[in-house]
Amino acid sequence: MTTIAIPPGMPQHDDVPRYDVAAVRADFPILDREVNGHPLVYLDSANTSHKPRQVLDALAGHYAQHNANVSRSVHTLGTEATEAYEGARAKVAAFVNAPSVDEVVFTKNSTEAINIVAYAFSNASLRSDADPRLQLGPGDEIVISEMEHHSNIVPWQLLAERTGATLRWFPVTDNGRLDESGLTDLVNERTKIVSLVHMSNILGTVNATARITARVREVGALLLLDCSQSVPHMPIDVVDLGADFIVFTGHKMCGPTGIGVLWGRSELLAAMPPVFGGGSMIETVSMGGSTYAAPPARFEAGTPPIAEAVALGAAVDYLTGIGMRAIQWHEKQLTAYALDVLGAVPGLRIFGPKVPVGRGGTISFALGDVHPHDVGQVLDALGVQVRVGHHCARPVCTRFGVPATTRASFYLYTTTEEIDALVAGLEQVRKVFA
Ligand code: ALA
Repeated sequence: MTTIAIPPGMPQHDDVPRYDVAAVRADFPILDREVNGHPLVYLDSANTSHKPRQVLDALAGHYAQHNANVSRSVHTLGTEATEAYEGARAKVAAFVNAPSVDEVVFTKNSTEAINIVAYAFSNASLRSDADPRLQLGPGDEIVISEMEHHSNIVPWQLLAERTGATLRWFPVTDNGRLDESGLTDLVNERTKIVSLVHMSNILGTVNATARITARVREVGALLLLDCSQSVPHMPIDVVDLGADFIVFTGHKMCGPTGIGVLWGRSELLAAMPPVFGGGSMIETVSMGGSTYAAPPARFEAGTPPIAEAVALGAAVDYLTGIGMRAIQWHEKQLTAYALDVLGAVPGLRIFGPKVPVGRGGTISFALGDVHPHDVGQVLDALGVQVRVGHHCARPVCTRFGVPATTRASFYLYTTTEEIDALVAGLEQVRKVFA
């Protein structure tokens, strides 16, 4: 990889951990392929990341050697499968420094994890004996932001509809930062839950949450952070973050699709009523009624994504082996480089922070008046894979007055040469649409 000068104003660390990007790339079989006669240039890792051989082997190896259902089969294979599944939970818990393994609930993805919390609120709101922190009704407020992914908007709109609570939101500044100027008004004694994105999937902004967390505590509300775009890219410590819940998804962090995580503080998960009913989530069942298992089982009804969890554990091992600080630093360098070279493309407008501080390696932009779908098509013909559209964050596009953007997003295997290929592709777009 090209050596990048650290821009002035950024910490000039000598002790930053580094890794061999070429060796990492060799772990990802898909990076060898061609697209439309060109070497693959994959700049869509915010959408989904690629999977290293170690994860693919763990997925296939589980089915080949240990396949059985978990938590209900006492035979040898069942025990092996249960140990592998619970072992993956322990790895995930350690990865985010969860104080207890039982605070990690496996879900299908981040979207399901957020919906579990939202439905636990509405189920609690139907029971007079439920924890009052989880009960919502008319006059209560839910706070989100204008920079959320749809998965952190729609579940709360639905919860507001079901309970009569009011949905409010933080606006976004022209620089693509969270506008906290109205914090004390927005988060107030009526607020029951604040649910915010940690790193925006469209703007790349990484939200500093300390002031918001302090305010949430002051008013006695709860805080959920959508860490789908941050857990894969930087060290995350749930104790340091100080949230009540975080959610993230396996497929953006070198793991498979179909597995996500809801982390919640023990005592809160224990206070939450179940959301899905079925096998494995119960304590006792009779025709007259049921009692429920303790978390995490209470929220994992039915046969869970077993092999996917095991493979997510392998992804955690893989990322930990490289080091999350090293990955963060690599992406910081890429982001500084990309902001620099993209900023020099005539007519290119970046949405979101234009400095590599308080942001990650996800960059949305417009190229003059060329429609992002046309940009994407020309780039695709050159092997460059970017996402175009509203990125499931339509309110952000509305905020910036565009129907869609083109988005390039980086990961641990991305190189500056790939960013150069993007810039060369954009020159081609300019020629085609001049
Ligand atoms: N949330 C994913 C993205 O931003 C799907 O592309």
